[in-house]
Amino acid sequence: MKESKAVRTKLRSKQPFYPVKQFDYLVLGSGIAGLSFALKVAARGRVAIVTKKDRAESNTNYAQGGIAAVTSKEDSFELHVRDTLTAGAGLCNEKVVRTIVEEGPARIAELIELGMKFSERDEPGGKELDLGKEGGHSMRRILHAKDVTGREIERALLDAISRQPNIQILENHLAIDLITSQKLGYVGENRCLGAYVFDKKSGAVETFSAPATLLATGGCGKVYLYTTNPDIATGDGVAMAFRAGAVVANMEFVQFHPTCLYHPKAKSFLISEAVRGEGAMLKSIDGREFMNDAHPLRSLAPRDIVARAIDSEMKQSGADNVLLDITHKPAKFIIERFPNIYQTCLRYGIDITREPIPVVPAAHYQCGGVVTNVDGETDIAGLYAVGEVACTGLHGANRLASNSLLEALVCAHRAAQHMATHALPPADLKIPAWQSGDASNPDEMVVVSHNWDEIRRLMWDYVGIVRTNKRLQRAQARLAHLQQEIHEYYWNFTVTSDLLELRNIATAAELIVRCAMMRPESRGLHYNLDYPNANPDWSQRDSVVRKSG
Ligand code: FAD
Ligand code: SIN
Repeated sequence: MKESKAVRTKLRSKQPFYPVKQFDYLVLGSGIAGLSFALKVAARGRVAIVTKKDRAESNTNYAQGGIAAVTSKEDSFELHVRDTLTAGAGLCNEKVVRTIVEEGPARIAELIELGMKFSERDEPGGKELDLGKEGGHSMRRILHAKDVTGREIERALLDAISRQPNIQILENHLAIDLITSQKLGYVGENRCLGAYVFDKKSGAVETFSAPATLLATGGCGKVYLYTTNPDIATGDGVAMAFRAGAVVANMEFVQFHPTCLYHPKAKSFLISEAVRGEGAMLKSIDGREFMNDAHPLRSLAPRDIVARAIDSEMKQSGADNVLLDITHKPAKFIIERFPNIYQTCLRYGIDITREPIPVVPAAHYQCGGVVTNVDGETDIAGLYAVGEVACTGLHGANRLASNSLLEALVCAHRAAQHMATHALPPADLKIPAWQSGDASNPDEMVVVSHNWDEIRRLMWDYVGIVRTNKRLQRAQARLAHLQQEIHEYYWNFTVTSDLLELRNIATAAELIVRCAMMRPESRGLHYNLDYPNANPDWSQRDSVVRKSG
């Protein structure tokens, strides 16, 4: 590639300059997608894992229910495929679904080989994997480590990584933007060259370059006021990829988890669907089992249906929450199967063996994202995306419970394999150092926190479980104004992690609204009162967006 024009320079001399850090693989994110990918490529080159908080902090770390995979004799790939397609409401890519379902068991076996300890149960012939059940699954097929599956996954993967001298983990490093040949003004195919990364401790912005970059930054639950997601989930990956020119799709399909603990002091603590899988029932505040009229699978119906039924029940009754009741099960069973949920609720004064749990729906999972094939390839050369940040076609309009950890494992493996046979040579293009404004503004923190709250509240109020055209238009107008303000801050002042994350949640929110406005129907997780039914013209049709210009 040759340089077509001078790269726009706006260098502020006070910004410290650091030489480019070169690796063979640059991995952004240390959840299941980033860590499992890094382990697969470590034998082939030097790997940097850049992660914005502590190494274990990720959505993965909080996963409770488990990983869906066909491991029992009674189950079959056909049934898992069928359940995934049914939940996805006509928008899954069946070929992708089959590949991920069929390759799942081999990836699970590797995880066990690495040291992952799944819960087991005693059977006459010896120990067998204990299988949980969740909404939309016709069989017990969820492998789990009690109710702290994600914590155990992170432990096992990080232990394995600590034995790999080729992998370097950089904590408290926040990727700001991808570096692409197109952005730098080179002509020819757009290629990812690496990323600018903010070192949160030193305040420096470092340049990382690698022939292959993996986006494994997870989802964007923090776009909403109430979410099950930890603070890291600010949509950084989808925002960075969009700014870099990648195709993004289906962002309107935000999954709301039906059962998040309702308590003023609990920060969005999830009550796993596996609790309903073991027989817990949803009840109205006066004890009515309202799911009996909503769906034949009652409390274990697919998530979109349960979340909408709860929303409607709360609106009709005026109550702040509904109830989840598992008190009919023996206390010993509840405490052993769900120790984390039991202990956490007890800390908030709720003994779940004796009283129902107050619950509300909360934003949980981003079904859309950066468009990739099943090998994690995006439409930018050298850029791969795996995990919640990606839109492979597995989830369609509604993800089947516990399919996301499975997708991340399978696609990380496939991306590593793909890179082995399609490795790009180093780009040999000059990358300028990061340029930033250097003014600091005493008003900044209040503006950042105000805009942050405003976006999350407006998304909750206008772009939540039930949408209308008018609410979407209102959200779009407000977001345009906020984005303009954030843009000015971004270009004029020194960057901080709060400002960078705010910029990303604004972009992710705007993408959700834009995709929602493109779809003139209700399907899966996207429910618009102005188009209450599915439109056959939109079956198998994604809402696709790409940055103009
Ligand atoms: P994550 O695990 O979210 O990891 C993202 C990583 O990227 C983090 O390390 C983060 O710090 C880092 N990062 C983000 N932005 C940047 C940046 N700009 N620079 C540097 N680093 C960055 N799914 C299931 O299949 N089964 C379950 O039982 C289940 N339970 C869940 C329970 C909860 C409470 C939640 C929140 C989710 C659950 N999910 C479950 C969903 C599942 O956990 C996630 O979809 C999955 O873990 C995503 O993995 P990931 O590797 O793509 O992203
Ligand atoms: C849960 O445990 O309910 C979460 C499962 C998931 O999101 O897949």
